[in-house]
Amino acid sequence: MKMEADIGSNKDWGLEKAYLHSTRQNLWNNDYFEFLVKCVWKIDKPVKIIDLGCGYGYLAQILLPLVPEGSSYKGIDISEELIDEANEIFANNKTQVCFEVADINDYESVAEYDIAICQSVIRHRNNPEDILKKMISFVKDNGLVICIEPSRRMENAGIFIDNKMYDPFENDDFLKERWLSEEHLGGRDYQVGIKVTVFMEKLGLKNIGVRINDYVDFISADNESFEAESQRFIRDHSIDPKYSDSNSFLAARCHVISFGYKQSEGRFFD
Ligand SMILES: C[S@@+](CC[C@H](N)C(=O)[O-])C[C@H]1O[C@@H](n2cnc3c(N)ncnc32)[C@H](O)[C@@H]1O
Repeated sequence: MKMEADIGSNKDWGLEKAYLHSTRQNLWNNDYFEFLVKCVWKIDKPVKIIDLGCGYGYLAQILLPLVPEGSSYKGIDISEELIDEANEIFANNKTQVCFEVADINDYESVAEYDIAICQSVIRHRNNPEDILKKMISFVKDNGLVICIEPSRRMENAGIFIDNKMYDPFENDDFLKERWLSEEHLGGRDYQVGIKVTVFMEKLGLKNIGVRINDYVDFISADNESFEAESQRFIRDHSIDPKYSDSNSFLAARCHVISFGYKQSEGRFFD
């Protein structure tokens, strides 16, 4: 892998639109997301959803077709540029969907939502418990709080490149130093994904569950669009260009999906 300059907690994601779009095309197996909605969270009644750090509304795009008619969605994000794009994407769906430019840290709401969700947001902040407290405060009694977050170490371990030169351990020392120093300096926690469940428990959520996103980004020389796809893979996963002529590339996303309910009789449980 090729290591890049540090990306801090205050990164402007409006400048990363191309990266966001590219990675979101290769993030979920739709059948697995549908399984979560219908079989794990059992969302069978219209729900009111809030998505914190919604970006350009990617989660709304995959979630809304799966929840019962009559459901509604609000997305908030600090990036004006991403919210503008979200508004364009959902220009014809203003009754069900709305977006607002807001900082999660300052945003307040009464407990009016059935579901508070976020994806790849806590990983970029240094105050995970504060964000979780907000999410809990936004949901009604029995409401559901869902966090979908990577754990960087698991994500890194999930990469394989079919190339004789490939050394899966070549960046371990560098990554350890980088991740630990970021955390020790009060920045992001590289393994927060796997810890969210513990925070949820501490903050009093009930019926807590954890899953792992089963998507594996797999590019093989047999793919028709191998050339373009391998370049995309190398860019999105920060792979060292010295591996460009490999036969195939795999990256397990390993996003940890943690969820819990505001009370023990979670509305969506049997
Ligand atoms: C990695 S992106 C994920 C976007 C989206 N959840 C998705 O999965 O496509 C992180 C998002 O969190 C937003 N964000 C970061 N800090 C924020 C804050 N303090 N308040 C609101 N949004 C924030 C960024 O602007 C960015 O859109």
